[in-house]
Amino acid sequence: MSRILVIGSVNLDVTASVSRLPVAGETVTGAALSRYPGGKGANQSLAARRLGAEVSLVASVGSDATADEALALLRAGGVDLSHCVAHPTAATGTALICVAPSGENHIVVAPGANAELNRVPGALPPADAMIAQLEVPQAAIARALQGFDGLFCMNLAPARDVDDALLERADLVVVNETEAAWYGSRLGRCGGYVATTFGADGAALRRGGEMIARVGSPHVDVVDTTGAGDTFTAALTVGLVEGMPPAEALAFACAAGALATTRPGAQPSLPGRADVEALVADQSRWNDAGSNSATE
Ligand code: RIB
Repeated sequence: MSRILVIGSVNLDVTASVSRLPVAGETVTGAALSRYPGGKGANQSLAARRLGAEVSLVASVGSDATADEALALLRAGGVDLSHCVAHPTAATGTALICVAPSGENHIVVAPGANAELNRVPGALPPADAMIAQLEVPQAAIARALQGFDGLFCMNLAPARDVDDALLERADLVVVNETEAAWYGSRLGRCGGYVATTFGADGAALRRGGEMIARVGSPHVDVVDTTGAGDTFTAALTVGLVEGMPPAEALAFACAAGALATTRPGAQPSLPGRADVEALVADQSRWNDAGSNSATE
């Protein structure tokens, strides 16, 4: 079983299901409200755990009831939370999310305690892979990387200025199309793999600017895309650290990400390993143009 350490955010997602996403200055009423555990770090932790990894999460939450709600599925799922600290004054991170019937969303995050993850608590457990995103301070990620020589996956989300040292150290960088455009030529600084996701059009894996693999996305009924990128990131890391060939790992990640869109909420929708493997194997669900028989 691979061991994965995640340095990242924990949020409570307050989600409004709306008939359509509002434009600036517009009020859309009639929404149905739900609360789900979320946060990119927490989502990636539980996704990796459901795919069969042993997972520890390094994170900062508030000393409040929201923290219990936000950590509930991680606890139930067997993610190690012994490196998750409770900040004395900052509130647990909260994300305000609007989801349209198409599954598209708008997300606004109030980071709260996530922004206070300045000190990585204690000695960290040994791991084969580490995953980080940009919802926590980069100094905490850099400290966790000291002395770590396993596979390092940097999910550059949300898009923000990132230290060159993190880009250069990453064995795998994951971005969506919007983030890829935002970072532009800076992605060229990555020495490892760069995976770009294209939503329903699948994903590409490049190294040194050269295409290594390109796969489409399997056909699924999309309900809510929240957490799909986190699931893709976790699955690609799990696949690569388990030794899957890159194209196989990319198809595994696309299948996992697609399944995560089929139910509401970030964490309730994270798929289990057997479902992902069944979808990978079901050729009838893949696009003709970019099937799971990827190039390598
Ligand atoms: O990637 C989805 C996540 O982004 C949500 O769960 C939300 O909490 C934000 O962090």
